[in-house]
Amino acid sequence: MAFDKYEFYQRAVQSPDVDAAFLQRVFQEIRGRDGKILREDFCAAFALCCHWAKLGSDKIAYGIDLDPEPLQYGRDHYLSLLEAEAQTRVKTFLTDVLNPELPKADIIAALNFSYFGFKDRPTLKRYFEACYKSLDADGLLVLDCFGGPACMEPNEHETEYDDFSYFWDQDSYDPITNEARFAIHFKLPGQKKLTNVFTYDWRLWSLAELRDLMLECGFSKVHYYWEGTDDEGEGDGEYAKVESGEICESFVAYIVGAK
Ligand SMILES: C[S@@+](CC[C@H](N)C(=O)[O-])C[C@H]1O[C@@H](n2cnc3c(N)ncnc32)[C@H](O)[C@@H]1O
Repeated sequence: MAFDKYEFYQRAVQSPDVDAAFLQRVFQEIRGRDGKILREDFCAAFALCCHWAKLGSDKIAYGIDLDPEPLQYGRDHYLSLLEAEAQTRVKTFLTDVLNPELPKADIIAALNFSYFGFKDRPTLKRYFEACYKSLDADGLLVLDCFGGPACMEPNEHETEYDDFSYFWDQDSYDPITNEARFAIHFKLPGQKKLTNVFTYDWRLWSLAELRDLMLECGFSKVHYYWEGTDDEGEGDGEYAKVESGEICESFVAYIVGAK
C-alpha cells in the first residue's frame, strides 16, 4: 500500500480532539461563554475543524488553506466520517490566510506554528490585522509557539510508535535572523527512512515579539498558556493560563490575542 503522508503526520504530530477541547476551554475561561465559530487557519486536512464540529450542534468551523491537496484529503478522510448534519457545519476555503474577505469567527486558531512561515514583521502584521478585523467583538486569536535554547542549534529528535518512528529534524538556525529549517522524516519497520516528507523554512518568533505585534494590531490583551510538568520534570500536556514562563530547554506554549 502506498505511504500516506497525511495519515502519518496526523498520528505523529496532531491531536485535533485535544486541540478542539483546549480551544473550547480557553474561550470559556477568557470570555465566560461558549465559542461557536472556529476558523482554522493553515488548516491543511482540517482535522481540527472536524473535531470542533463534533463538540455540539451549534459549532461551526471554517478551514483556510491555499493547497488543494490536503483540503481534498480532509474531505475524503475526516469530513466524510462526520454525520451528515455535522458535515454541513464545516466549510473550507482554498485561499490565502492574508485574504481580507474571510468569514467572521469567535476563535481563529493557527496551530502547529504555520505562521512562522511569515518571516518578516510587515507580513505577520498584515496577518494579525486581518485576523483582528475578522474576529467577532470578543474574539480570540490563538497561536502556538515553540522556543528555548534547544531550538538554537541543529538537532534531530526521534519518537518511536508501535509501527513507525517519527523524526523532527532541525537542520539549521541563524542567530542573526532567527530563521531555521525543519524537516519531518518517518521510518517504517524494515523500510528505508523516508526523508523530508514535510519541510519548513521558518522564522522563530518569540512570545514577546508576538505579544508586542498583537497589541500594535489592536488586540486589547494578550494571554499565555504554559505547560505543566510531571514528576520527572517533563511536560504533562496540561496547559494553564500564566503570567510568566519557566526556564526550560524547549517549550511549546500558546499565546492568545483577545480583541
Ligand atoms: C504545517 S501545515 C499544517 C498545519 C496544521 N494547521 C496542523 O495543525 O498540523 C501548514 C499548512 O499551511 C498552508 N499554508 C501555508 N501558507 C499559507 C497561507 N499564506 N495561507 C493559507 N494556507 C497556507 C500550507 O498549504 C499547509 O497546508
